Amino acid sequence: MRFLFFLIPFFLCAEDSFITQIEYGRMLYENPRGIGCVECHGESGEGKIIANYTHKKKQKQLYGPKINDIEFDSFSKALQKSQKIMPKYYLTKQEIEAIYKYLESKKDIIKDK
Ligand code: HEC
Repeated sequence: MRFLFFLIPFFLCAEDSFITQIEYGRMLYENPRGIGCVECHGESGEGKIIANYTHKKKQKQLYGPKINDIEFDSFSKALQKSQKIMPKYYLTKQEIEAIYKYLESKKDIIKDK
């Protein structure tokens, strides 16, 4: 029975190593199953130019739109339907929520500066 007491500190430490929803959101945003959102929507969801190209002699731009200022509902819907350029991810509701919260948390940091 005594050995159980040695285990108690490990249980207590394990408590600390659980990641928060926001940290989980960051992991998903940077590296979901497939190409990271960050590659197309920028570090904080501020939007990003993916490529410049010419089509029929016209300068064109491919960009990931700003996604850190939209309602959760549209955010979630956009991720569940097939888009033209953006890959489909099949994220769960929890995953979508975590990413959304993560982007919100980044916005607060920017505001505080
Ligand atoms: C290959 C580039 C690319 C990646 C990777 C990508 N997106 Fe997108 N995203 C786009 C583009 C481009 C659009 C605009 C719709 C279209 O043309 O596909 C878009 C649209 C969106 C929209 C809708 C924006 C609006 O205003 O309605 C949301 C929300 C979004 N992306 C979130 C994400 C999240 C979250 C991830 C990661 C899980 C992600 N995207 C990964 C390129 C990308």
